[in-house]
Amino acid sequence: MPKSILISNVLPSEARQLIPADVKVDYNDSEQPMPRADFLRRLQGNEGLICHIISAIDDEVLATPGLKVVSNVAVGYNNVDVAAARKRGVVVTNTPDVLTETTADFAFTLLMAAARRVVEADRYVRAGQWKTWKWDLLWGADIHGKTLGVVGFGRIGRAVARRGLGFGMRVLYHDTVRADAAAERELNATAVDMDTLLRQSDFVTLHTLLSPDTRHLINERTLRLMKKTAVLINAARGPVVDEAALVRALSEKWIAGAGLDVFEEEPKIHPGLLPLDNVTLAPHIASASGDTRIAMASLAVRNCLAVLEGKPALTPVA
Ligand code: DGY
Repeated sequence: MPKSILISNVLPSEARQLIPADVKVDYNDSEQPMPRADFLRRLQGNEGLICHIISAIDDEVLATPGLKVVSNVAVGYNNVDVAAARKRGVVVTNTPDVLTETTADFAFTLLMAAARRVVEADRYVRAGQWKTWKWDLLWGADIHGKTLGVVGFGRIGRAVARRGLGFGMRVLYHDTVRADAAAERELNATAVDMDTLLRQSDFVTLHTLLSPDTRHLINERTLRLMKKTAVLINAARGPVVDEAALVRALSEKWIAGAGLDVFEEEPKIHPGLLPLDNVTLAPHIASASGDTRIAMASLAVRNCLAVLEGKPALTPVA
C-alpha cells in the first residue's frame, strides 16, 4: 500500500518538496480550517496527517483507520488529544527548538512596544496629531534595569530571559521544575514562587503550555498581586489568561499595560480589549518569520515521513 499523507492546510513548497514522489499527498492549499465532515472524509485512507493548530484533533479524528501519525506544525499541541492518541497508538509530533529564538524575539518585541507605547505613537503620528515637540508626550516605562518575571522556564522562557539580560534586567522565574544550577547561573535567574514573581516583576512574560493547571493562571487574584506599573506579556496560549479579568485590570489600571499575541477564543478578541490604548495586540504571529515558518513546516514533514518509514519521530510529544 503506498504511503499517504493529508496536509490539512497551507504548507510552504520548501517543506512539501521534502516528500518523496512515491508518497501520495492530498494537499488542502487553504488557510481556512476544513469543514469537519470534509476533514474526516479526506483523512480516510491516509497514514499521516500534517496539520496546524486550527485543526481540533480529537478521538473521532484519531480513530481514522490506519492513521499512524499526527504531525502538528507548532510547538504547542493543545489542539490534539494526546491521551486519546496514546490509547490508539497514533504518534503525535510537534516542532520545538526551530521557533524558540523567533518566538522569544517577538515576546520581547511586544514587551518593548507595550513599555514604550510604540503602537500609540504610530497612531498619533498617522492621525496628524503631532503639531509640535512635547515634553510630556507618550511617556513610557524603562526596560533596562527592571525586573523580568518569566512564567514557564522552558526553551522559550529562557530565550526571553537571555534577551532580558542584554537589557541589564534582573530575572525571576517560576516553573514547576527548577532549572539546573548552570542555567540559573548563565541567565542570572532566581526561582521564586508565583506570587513573589507577580509582586516583584515589572514585566511578567508567560511561556507555559496550556493545561488544566495553567488555564486562567492569570486571573483577578493574580492580576491584583502585580505592580500597578507592571506590564503583562502573553505569547504562549490565550486561555492562560482570564481575558475578562485582564480587561478590568487594564481599564481600572490595576496594571499599566499588556502585550498579547494570543487570545482565549482566537480569532475572537474580548471586545473590552479593543478600545484600550494600554494593550498592544497581535494576531498570533510570534513564530511568524519566513525562515522559522519554513523550518517548522519542514520539521513537521520530516516527523511525518519518519513515522511512515517505521522510524522514531524526530520530535515526538512527550
Ligand atoms: C506554536 O508553535 O505553538 C505557535 O503558537 C503556533 O505557531
